[in-house]
Amino acid sequence: MAGILRRRGMDSSVMDSQEPEPAPQPVTSLALADARIPPRYRQALADHPEVAAWVDEIVRAGRPGPSGTRGIAEGPSLLIVGPTGTGKTHQAYGAVRSLLATGVRLRWEAVTAADLYARLRPRPGLDAERELHTLARCPLLVLDDLGAAKGSEWTEELTYRLINYRYEYLRPTLLTTNLPILKLRTALGDRVASRLSEMTHRVILDGPDRRRPNSPAT
Ligand SMILES: Nc1ncnc2c1ncn2[C@@H]1O[C@H](COP(=O)(O)OP(=O)(O)O)[C@@H](O)[C@H]1O
Ligand SMILES: [Mg+2]
Repeated sequence: MAGILRRRGMDSSVMDSQEPEPAPQPVTSLALADARIPPRYRQALADHPEVAAWVDEIVRAGRPGPSGTRGIAEGPSLLIVGPTGTGKTHQAYGAVRSLLATGVRLRWEAVTAADLYARLRPRPGLDAERELHTLARCPLLVLDDLGAAKGSEWTEELTYRLINYRYEYLRPTLLTTNLPILKLRTALGDRVASRLSEMTHRVILDGPDRRRPNSPAT
């Protein structure tokens, strides 16, 4: 091989030299977390001032963990209210991303209320109590589109148990709903609505449906 190359006026060392391997990128918790965020919201920024203020409050309340990094602790929750397409889910994931970007140690789960009910619907082999506990105890829970799914006594009880745990243990929870505040009570029941009104800061998003940029605000 070297001879053939030499006859052709080429240096065999060219063939030997390999492109240097790119140095492996350190996997940051933000990169790992971004992989769990739905692609549509992977660049989301919590640019709403009240959402950003909530993020700051949670970071300030964080307490140092064994490795010296701050972990998320007890804190207030946030209820983002607004009609469809006003950017509620965007703000919620933006808040998760902002929290992760501060380097705070963060275990988080995100689920829509409709998926929560589907996930916990009794079926053979499902340990629904365990699933519920995992979500209830998670340091940060995003519960998206609360009140959007058609409710029943069963969904009301499940929502109550989840919210009540987070209420009692002061676990920061990011909730979104497209129901106006006045309708929340009817949709979720008094027990849930009452706890939410005590445990959450409210952020009202209005404006046009961002999915239909040319339509007037409704
Ligand atoms: N602040 C923002 N900047 C850029 N795009 C946004 C912003 N808020 C929302 N969007 C986009 O608008 C669309 C609707 O937002 P979404 O958060 O899904 O609305 P909602 O949850 O209120 O129904 C999505 O495509 C989202 O990416
Ligand atoms: Mg949404």
